Amino acid sequence: MSDQLNMKALFQLSYGVYIVTSHMDGKPNGQIANTFFQATAEPPRLAACLNKENLTHDYVKKSGVFGVSILDQETPFQFIGAFGFKSGKDVNKFENVSFITGVTGVPIVTENALSYIELKVMGEMDAGSHTLFVGDLVNCQVLKEGTPLTYKYYHEVIKGKTPKKATTYQAMPEK
Ligand SMILES: Cc1cc2nc3c(=O)[nH]c(=O)nc-3n(C[C@H](O)[C@H](O)[C@H](O)COP(=O)(O)O)c2cc1C
Repeated sequence: MSDQLNMKALFQLSYGVYIVTSHMDGKPNGQIANTFFQATAEPPRLAACLNKENLTHDYVKKSGVFGVSILDQETPFQFIGAFGFKSGKDVNKFENVSFITGVTGVPIVTENALSYIELKVMGEMDAGSHTLFVGDLVNCQVLKEGTPLTYKYYHEVIKGKTPKKATTYQAMPEK
């Protein structure tokens, strides 16, 4: 790797851990994403970067809407694993989970969530392996008080791993 690319620098970026959800033909799906952030304040817009191979990606692209649940720091690893290491192409992730239907029609996971956000896609950019979806804020609500789960806490305390389809996946640099 060239001297200009010390990839360790990217491990110092901070993120949260969220469930991004959408639907198609009446079917809900969702996935874990750390790459979700507020892009602008006025008008309020937020963005998520989703792998093109994920079912959630296709649902967001087709429906033009997505929901985001902000996870509680107390969320068990098993729950994160069910949304982050399995695909809705193989399992129904919503079978045993508490969720509501938002004003845009998206399913929103309320279990282990502190707050949720609903967005209508206003633009998207092909970023190669992933698509960056930018959404207009349509609805956002607080469900309960708590500490939001961060990516750092997920790695260092929960000892969770990052699958290869995550935006930030990199083999750990040797030095
Ligand atoms: C901690 C964590 C962070 C992740 N972040 C992202 C992300 O930002 N973008 C992404 O596309 N996938 C991310 N993933 C991977 C997806 O959650 C995973 O590929 C999921 O199985 C896709 O499910 P689906 O096919 O049902 O949509 C992450 C997974 C974990 C565990």
